[in-house]
Amino acid sequence: MPGSPSVLFVCLGNICRSPLAEAALRHEVQAAGIEVLVDSAGTGSWHVGKGPDPRACAEAQRHGIDIRSYRARQVSPQDFVRFDRIVALDSSNLADLERIAPRHPRARLSLLLDHVPGLEGQDVADPYYGGPEGFEETWRQVSAAARRLVAELRD
Ligand code: 4NP
Repeated sequence: MPGSPSVLFVCLGNICRSPLAEAALRHEVQAAGIEVLVDSAGTGSWHVGKGPDPRACAEAQRHGIDIRSYRARQVSPQDFVRFDRIVALDSSNLADLERIAPRHPRARLSLLLDHVPGLEGQDVADPYYGGPEGFEETWRQVSAAARRLVAELRD
């Protein structure tokens, strides 16, 4: 929607963490009855065009959300103009975003867990190489951040 706030989540591959962050924020936005443009992307290009990792799909499904239609894409320079906020899942992603950002971006860059009181400065750990419990922890973190982001966007 024109005039709606917009949020882009960015991780490395756009198949594990940022699709779950996108799903969590879409869910909270819908529950709050507000209009927000939500998307996700990766700093890397390995998985472009692919759906989310099956373990991320399963975790979202546990919360009643179907993310199987999401498709990975790489973050682009236009994203810094299109979005109000770009939220990195870890500090390495944030450093990469700062490196590729245009000089005067419209988007405000932040670290996801800086939005959650008590978890400031922490990374959302990459669950790619671990078991399903890593995806549960990712969901807990991204859903806490999504609730805070909705509160921020309402203010
Ligand atoms: P994500 O996880 O950044 O949370 O999507 C990863 C997915 C794939 C790879 C790394 C991280 N990979 O190296 O292929």
